[in-house]
Amino acid sequence: MDVMTAILTRRSEHYLTEPAPSAQEFAELLAVAAAAPDHGQLQPWRWVLVDGAERQSLGACFAEEASAERMADAAAKPLRAPLLASLIFQPRLPHKVPEWEQLAAASLVNHGMMLLLHARGYGSIWRTGKNTDSPRVRQLLGVRPEERLLGWLYIGSPAGDRAAAARAPRDVTTKVTALRTPLHRLDHAESAALSV
Ligand SMILES: Cc1cc2nc3c(=O)[nH]c(=O)nc-3n(C[C@H](O)[C@H](O)[C@H](O)COP(=O)(O)O)c2cc1C
Repeated sequence: MDVMTAILTRRSEHYLTEPAPSAQEFAELLAVAAAAPDHGQLQPWRWVLVDGAERQSLGACFAEEASAERMADAAAKPLRAPLLASLIFQPRLPHKVPEWEQLAAASLVNHGMMLLLHARGYGSIWRTGKNTDSPRVRQLLGVRPEERLLGWLYIGSPAGDRAAAARAPRDVTTKVTALRTPLHRLDHAESAALSV
């Protein structure tokens, strides 16, 4: 799949089933995604994979911090995909590369992973929420005090007719201005027609 197609056809997949990539395949893809722009080559991220029954341990943490009526829903959340890749931001501080740039590098790697997974036929969605700051969750995943949990890449295979990527790309327009020449807004069809 070429890069233009991958970017235009990737969608956040809410319904994910087996198979998910193995830890080995995940690591292989990550080695590619890590080629993203990374000021200072700091690699200010690490990943903790959660799969199988470990997802229930994570769900138990979610449930402990949910209201009584939402406990069951919270416990089931990590079961929505066969693999949850926890993205942990570990900024090098103090450093001449500011923290926001390091955070940008971690985000770029995440996007690269989503594109690579999509190109392999897998689906993913980046999920965050208040559980990322939960002390119980942080303890389970071994997130150190100086680190920040940026959420989870829920990964699996898009579930048949519920697969978002199978639907037409959304109509996205984006604003771009040249210093001297006013440009018009580009939509999907126009950007797809551009060659890279
Ligand atoms: C930093 C970040 C956090 C996100 N957190 C969530 C989330 O908690 N739950 C969710 O359903 N989607 C989450 N998303 C996914 C967005 O909802 C999704 O990218 C957006 O709806 C556009 O859909 P698309 O990825 O198919 O283009 C997150 C995306 C980003 C970039």
